[in-house]
Amino acid sequence: MIESGKTYVVMGLLDAESLAYTIGKTIARMGGKVIHTVQSEVFKRRFLDSSKQLTDEERAGLDLRYCDITKPEQVEAVFAGMTGLGGVVHSIAYANPKTCLGEEFHTDAIDDITLSHHISCVSLATLARYAVPAMTGGGAIVSMTFDTSHVYPHYNWMGVQKAALEALVRALARRHGRDRVRVNAVSAGPLWTKAASKIPGFGELTKVWNANSPLPWNTRDDKQAVANAVVFLLGPYSEKITGQILAVDGGAAVMGGPRLAHEMANSEPRDA
Ligand SMILES: NC(=O)c1ccc[n+]([C@@H]2O[C@H](COP(=O)([O-])OP(=O)(O)OC[C@H]3O[C@@H](n4cnc5c(N)ncnc54)[C@H](O)[C@@H]3O)[C@@H](O)[C@H]2O)c1
Repeated sequence: MIESGKTYVVMGLLDAESLAYTIGKTIARMGGKVIHTVQSEVFKRRFLDSSKQLTDEERAGLDLRYCDITKPEQVEAVFAGMTGLGGVVHSIAYANPKTCLGEEFHTDAIDDITLSHHISCVSLATLARYAVPAMTGGGAIVSMTFDTSHVYPHYNWMGVQKAALEALVRALARRHGRDRVRVNAVSAGPLWTKAASKIPGFGELTKVWNANSPLPWNTRDDKQAVANAVVFLLGPYSEKITGQILAVDGGAAVMGGPRLAHEMANSEPRDA
């Protein structure tokens, strides 16, 4: 569903578990050329090079650039000289788990909140600023969010950053319509990745998700369903969609509570 032969930049590759990895593979399978960005060479050595799910051939086939999204000159360098770029995926977030996540919401660590805001939200604007001129024929930007219509335990300041990110998606959609660049986000259900494993109580959250979700939700296998929606928002089938948050979460986020016994499939285990 992307435009075959066009180039897409997918930012936020850490290892083979990353949503960015599945998204990149999906774009490539559909005939797109993929450039991945990794936070730094140190991160590449520590995570990507030691990722056991990748063969040497798969690792060698990745077109990688380094980019710390808080450094505008590094973001500018990624897109410098590019023309005809089809789209960009922003699959980046960070919050110090010791201060911004966990059982206690209140914290004195204002610098940590500020850094989290910069990386998880403001960086989408930095990206748009430097990437849009490379989308000379119009294009699309897709970011990644998590349900902001409910408050989840432990997710604390990351929930605040995601709400701000969604507001920024709408602001950028307004700003870049004149450039024929669309800006949207996919709101994914919980999926096991390195970032997710740093969220205290993530395992409990996945159980809540499965209890609420009208469709089955698999926290490992459903990365592909998320990647499919990202590709839809990157490509021409979504040509009049901008400023939207598309939930790919099995439907859990709109439910008014856990499913009752009579709402479950007969094959599902039920409480006595
Ligand atoms: N995994 C989930 O359950 C889930 C659900 C909904 C949304 N998301 C979102 O998906 C996105 C990707 O996360 P993921 O789950 O694939 O985890 P991940 O750990 O694989 O990816 C997070 C990425 O952010 C990058 N990053 C952090 N600080 C950076 C910086 N200063 N500069 C450049 N890159 C930086 C990391 O290097 C990493 O590549 C995030 O926005 C996350 O919030 C994840």
